[in-house]
Amino acid sequence: REKIIIDTDPGQDDAVAMLLAFASPGEIEVLGVTAVAGNAPLHLTELNARKICELAGRPDAKVFAGCDRPLFLDLHTAPEVHGDTGLDGPDLPEPTMPLQERHAVDFIIDTLRTEPAGSVTLCPLGPLTNIATALTRAPDIAARIRRIVLMGGAQWEGGNSSPVAEFNIFVDPHAAQIVLTSGVEIVMFPLDVTHQVLTAQHQMDRVRAIPGPVGRVTYEMLDFYRRYDEAKYGTDGGPLHDPCVIAWLLRPDLFVGRQVNVEVETASTLTIGQTVVDRWGTTGRPKNVLYMLKADAEGFFDLLVERLARL
Ligand code: BDR
Ligand code: CA
Repeated sequence: REKIIIDTDPGQDDAVAMLLAFASPGEIEVLGVTAVAGNAPLHLTELNARKICELAGRPDAKVFAGCDRPLFLDLHTAPEVHGDTGLDGPDLPEPTMPLQERHAVDFIIDTLRTEPAGSVTLCPLGPLTNIATALTRAPDIAARIRRIVLMGGAQWEGGNSSPVAEFNIFVDPHAAQIVLTSGVEIVMFPLDVTHQVLTAQHQMDRVRAIPGPVGRVTYEMLDFYRRYDEAKYGTDGGPLHDPCVIAWLLRPDLFVGRQVNVEVETASTLTIGQTVVDRWGTTGRPKNVLYMLKADAEGFFDLLVERLARL
């Protein structure tokens, strides 16, 4: 079983990633869920995280609130994609499970120091503020992280927050650069791959057929979420970015990636937040990232539907 911390800003696609992880206790142990400001302000992302834990039947899960703004920039949210609540679509009850008192960054540091070295994987699904803050405050944890499997970045597909920048990196590019140069093994799911995993109508039909509240709520979340991308990009469905991270832990054979150097532009006003991918090794810089490029979307949805039906 892989022990993970999910660092997240739910977000409908974050929520589906959480559900997929909770639906897979044979392979994955969720040590905690750490919320960060991103798609919505922190008070909403931590609330949404607790709503999803309860939907998954896991009110015992630990949810921590982390950083409420990026390291240096003002917070930029995405209500046009996720709605004003960050999780528009379904009508979910107010959670009864408590928010943990500890700060998310302290939880990340403490967990990495107490669990055996090399046993904990970090799964960031939002801006990298919590992770970068933990690495800066406690540099000793870097050597204890098994790996960081994250959603973020874009190169060949172009950006979704600027012509060249993907949202999670765009919101906190300085944090992203700290994480990418930390020396920790990194697996990255950029738009280049996540835009292949679309909630097309035939996939939505399969989600709708999942019995019980998890199927219904997932359908309602994704039915809201798909509208933005369909209107903007003319696709059939919206991209399930964040669930790719969890799907890869379960079924790495569904994806194809390439080991490359990736760094983040943090200075230019034109290209801030761009992930610069050295595909052909021209810089000679260390190959710090397994950069994902291809996904088997049908295989992904087979996995997702099968797992969510277990909840
Ligand atoms: C990323 O930004 C958010 O809107 C999604 O949850 C995902 O993590 C995609 O760019
Ligand atoms: Ca997210």
